[in-house]
Amino acid sequence: MAARWLLLLLLGLAVAGVVRGQGGAPDTSGFISIDCGLPEKTSYVDDATKLKFTSDDAFTDAGTIHNVSSAFATPTTTTDRSLYNVRSFPAGARNCYTVPSVVPGSKYLVRAKFMYGNYDGLNKPPVFDLHLGVNFWQTVTVPSADWLGNAEVIAVVPDDFLQVCLVNTGAGTPFISGLDLRPLPSSLYAPANATQGLVLLDRRNFGASGSTVIRYPDDTYDRVWWPWSNPPAEWSDISTADKVQNTIAPVFDVPSVVMQTAITTRNSSIPIQFSWDTKPNHVYPDPGSIFTLYVTELELLAGNAVRQFNVTINGVIWTKAPYKPVYLSTDAMYNGDRPYRGITRYNFSLNAAGSSTLPPILNAAEAFSVISTADLATDAQDVSAITAIKAKYQVKNWTGDPCAPKTLAWDGLTCSYAISTPPRITGVNMSYAGLSGDISSYFANLKEIKNLDLSHNNLTGSIPNVISQLQFLAVLDLTGNQLNGSIPSGLLKRSQDGSLTLRYGNNPNLCSNSSSCQLPQKKSNSMLAVYVAVPVVVIGAVAVFLIFFIRKKKNKSKGTVKPQILGNGVQSHGQNGTGGSLLELHNRQFTYKDLAVITNNFQRVLGKGGFGPVYDGFLKDGTHVAVKLRDESSSQGYSEFLTEKTLTKIHHKNLVALIGYCKDEKHLALVYEHMSEGTLEDKLRGKDRKGRSLTWRQRLRIVLESAQGLEYLHKACSPRFVHRDVKSSNILLNANLEAKVADFGLTTAFKCDGDTHVSTVRVVGTYGYLAPEYATALQVSEKIDIYSFGVVLLEVITGQPSIIKLPEPTTIIQWTRQRLARGNIEGVVDVNMPNDRYDINCIWKVADVALKCTAQAPGQRPTMTDVVTQLKECLELEETSFKGDTSSSYMTESSIDPNSSYNTYTTEMS
Ligand SMILES: *[C@@H]1O[C@H](CO)[C@@H](O)[C@H](O)[C@H]1NC(C)=O
Ligand SMILES: *[C@@H]1O[C@H](CO)[C@@H](O)[C@H](O)[C@H]1NC(C)=O
Ligand SMILES: *[C@@H]1O[C@H](CO)[C@@H](O)[C@H](O)[C@H]1NC(C)=O
Ligand SMILES: *[C@@H]1O[C@H](CO)[C@@H](O)[C@H](O)[C@H]1NC(C)=O
Ligand SMILES: *[C@@H]1O[C@H](CO)[C@@H](O)[C@H](O)[C@H]1NC(C)=O
Ligand SMILES: *[C@@H]1O[C@H](CO)[C@@H](O)[C@H](O)[C@H]1NC(C)=O
Ligand SMILES: *[C@@H]1O[C@H](CO)[C@@H](O)[C@H](O)[C@H]1NC(C)=O
Ligand SMILES: *[C@@H]1O[C@H](CO)[C@@H](O)[C@H](O)[C@H]1NC(C)=O
Repeated sequence: MAARWLLLLLLGLAVAGVVRGQGGAPDTSGFISIDCGLPEKTSYVDDATKLKFTSDDAFTDAGTIHNVSSAFATPTTTTDRSLYNVRSFPAGARNCYTVPSVVPGSKYLVRAKFMYGNYDGLNKPPVFDLHLGVNFWQTVTVPSADWLGNAEVIAVVPDDFLQVCLVNTGAGTPFISGLDLRPLPSSLYAPANATQGLVLLDRRNFGASGSTVIRYPDDTYDRVWWPWSNPPAEWSDISTADKVQNTIAPVFDVPSVVMQTAITTRNSSIPIQFSWDTKPNHVYPDPGSIFTLYVTELELLAGNAVRQFNVTINGVIWTKAPYKPVYLSTDAMYNGDRPYRGITRYNFSLNAAGSSTLPPILNAAEAFSVISTADLATDAQDVSAITAIKAKYQVKNWTGDPCAPKTLAWDGLTCSYAISTPPRITGVNMSYAGLSGDISSYFANLKEIKNLDLSHNNLTGSIPNVISQLQFLAVLDLTGNQLNGSIPSGLLKRSQDGSLTLRYGNNPNLCSNSSSCQLPQKKSNSMLAVYVAVPVVVIGAVAVFLIFFIRKKKNKSKGTVKPQILGNGVQSHGQNGTGGSLLELHNRQFTYKDLAVITNNFQRVLGKGGFGPVYDGFLKDGTHVAVKLRDESSSQGYSEFLTEKTLTKIHHKNLVALIGYCKDEKHLALVYEHMSEGTLEDKLRGKDRKGRSLTWRQRLRIVLESAQGLEYLHKACSPRFVHRDVKSSNILLNANLEAKVADFGLTTAFKCDGDTHVSTVRVVGTYGYLAPEYATALQVSEKIDIYSFGVVLLEVITGQPSIIKLPEPTTIIQWTRQRLARGNIEGVVDVNMPNDRYDINCIWKVADVALKCTAQAPGQRPTMTDVVTQLKECLELEETSFKGDTSSSYMTESSIDPNSSYNTYTTEMS
């Protein structure tokens, strides 16, 4: 009898059978359990698993919710209450759930659950497709109203969010009852990688009695292990109370309770036989199949008893040598590297072989179909721009990925598709779309756009200047709107030289001749002045722009057991008792409890930042960390977590490394590497200076390293990244006095030069370091960091704070300029600096760089790359003039890599 992959869910009945593990329940961090169709903002704890299920409201903005017919919402159908309600999607070809805050590049088990339950009273079970992001997952064929369906896929998630989409294929309205996400270690299910996913066909626990279903907490990953329904008469169950060792846990991790039961046959002349059918569909007419059989010996064999067997599939031998199970130690046979194709029914037969006196044995098995997950989502920058445009104009039926798959691209978009690079948006046609309000400046972020048609809407305001920076723009149609002001000269110029077709007729208030136009009244700056007038640190935006980074980790898992080939592609693991090393957690997410342990109950406060208090702590492996805990009082910013995909990739040796984060119920925290020597500010002026001031060469290295960190933010990131709060207290030093820039996670990615959406931007930064154009007009560019960094350079030279409290508060810039104007360099140099070891020319040079950086006009300031070059030259000068100087005792010579400023990020951003 063939097993069906979508089988009766006996979740409710499972309660009775679940054997609870010893001790506390396993870790559920990263588990996401969604009850689709539950009224918004409600949640409950599931009786069987004690897992918390929440409403799907936060994960989708489409569809309508329904209760299933009362005839099916009863324990006789199922006790899984998440199936008692559904969300259905009568409108639109594709509707999606977006789950934020997943860890990019890590492996997840994703499970969708279905019970039609005649929720619409039509008694018409539908057929529809499921997509995982932009890749086809499987077709869901609902056979009946009481059918309890499960679709499960194991896949690597590329982004910091995951989308699951239901696609209407014209055979009924798609619906869904539940959606579960469970993180998996990357070493498990090795065939699931960045380009290949595993769709579950079947997962069985042989020899389990009647209705016993094993899942969380017995299975720490909350996989569901089903008993075989209607076992044939030849099978007999055996079991043991003893725990089964799992030496192959890093590769195959089957719960001991599953392995403790098995089937054999009455005697050795009777084989174990069963079969599996594949599920061909319109995308995969001949799906590739991967099978895994899990075996262990459960009986302590007497003297001359032997149990060994061969496995055949459709009569063809699978195991070359007769296989002998090991007593109470899990082993696995599988064809992970070579999915089988060309067969729709796989007949398995386990036959006692050679001198076996005992029948074969089988404890558990899994069967998967492989799918491709190689299709790429649209370019992230295009996605964020078009998403902002969608939100501004409230386009309802733009769902899922904008360009992919091709057949489901958003209405009005044209995209370009290339092999192995993400699709790009090349055209937006929103003519006759009833748009009102002004033209979003996010259009200027669609860097590859060629055609932009906004004709015949009700758009008002002026044409954003930034549109003229779109270098590929060939057609711009603004006909028939209510636009005013003048046409940006850049657009006119391109229209005149023929590179742009510009249409703007039927805009009564728009004039094409800029001199005769009355400019629209400029927004008064008085409101902005309020922000600027706030005298101290302006940290308001911190909560809003709370963005977390996860340091992209290398897979260091060394515990992977080298497979031992048994034959015909069947592999076996762990016979040699290779006591697998502990799995490395892929997702460095901490619970609040972990943090309490790490910080010894939040005992030692290191300081207080804009985000909240910072605690001292140690990880289990001894790593010294700083834990920044967010004030519980600020509730904003929750949804901004882990949203900027690009930010997760930022790491550089001169940026403070984020080790992990915590996102518990109420607690938000960042775990950083600990920087034992504190801040540059404290080193220059702090109480704990301990009498010893930094030498000039140490100062020079510190600013050079910080500049390299900032250069990386400015140049290596896409979109570009502006720190916005560069200051000496955000430059941290480690035990080797190596400098790393901190707190860049609390600002936001830089969208575009001309973004005039002042209302969404607030001043982040510190008085004394704010560039004039940022303080007065909120203009954001890398140049504001250059300005602030110039202030830091002056601090390093003079040892003075950014605002010097003379009788009248003066900025360090004014103070230095006045003295240098008189040629008095000695008069500005920090009196605490050991004066025997510096080259005055070098100090002049740095002062010169600092003054250029703090130029009023942003255009006159150098780039961070220029600054790095200058500082490097200066350091070289310093080092050649003082060869053999060993006085800088705790400085490591290797801390400056002569090639670092460019090479580090080109390799790290691969
Ligand atoms: C579903 O049933 C519950 C009570 O059983 C009720 O409170 C809720 O309003 C119903 N929802 C819908 C969408 O009908
Ligand atoms: C999306 O909405 C637009 C405008 O309301 C409509 O013209 C278009 O047909 C819709 N597309 C789909 C796929 O529903
Ligand atoms: C994923 O596995 C398949 C099958 O083993 C292989 O062909 C493919 O190259 C792998 N992809 C990646 C990104 O490693
Ligand atoms: C095994 O069982 C079959 C059927 O019950 C029987 O015919 C056969 O003699 C048995 N063989 C042995 C070796 O006991
Ligand atoms: C598989 O077994 C069934 C009977 O259980 C048989 O009808 C079928 O022909 C077998 N298929 C193959 C390919 O051996
Ligand atoms: C099992 O495999 C061995 C080694 O290939 C072979 O000699 C034996 O005949 C096989 N037994 C069965 C029952 O297929
Ligand atoms: C945009 O779509 C309209 C029809 O809705 C069409 O007339 C127009 O030519 C399209 N614009 C471009 C630039 O393709
Ligand atoms: C366009 O907007 C104006 C001002 O908001 C409004 O009075 C007018 O009715 C709108 N016209 C259309 C066609 O939507």
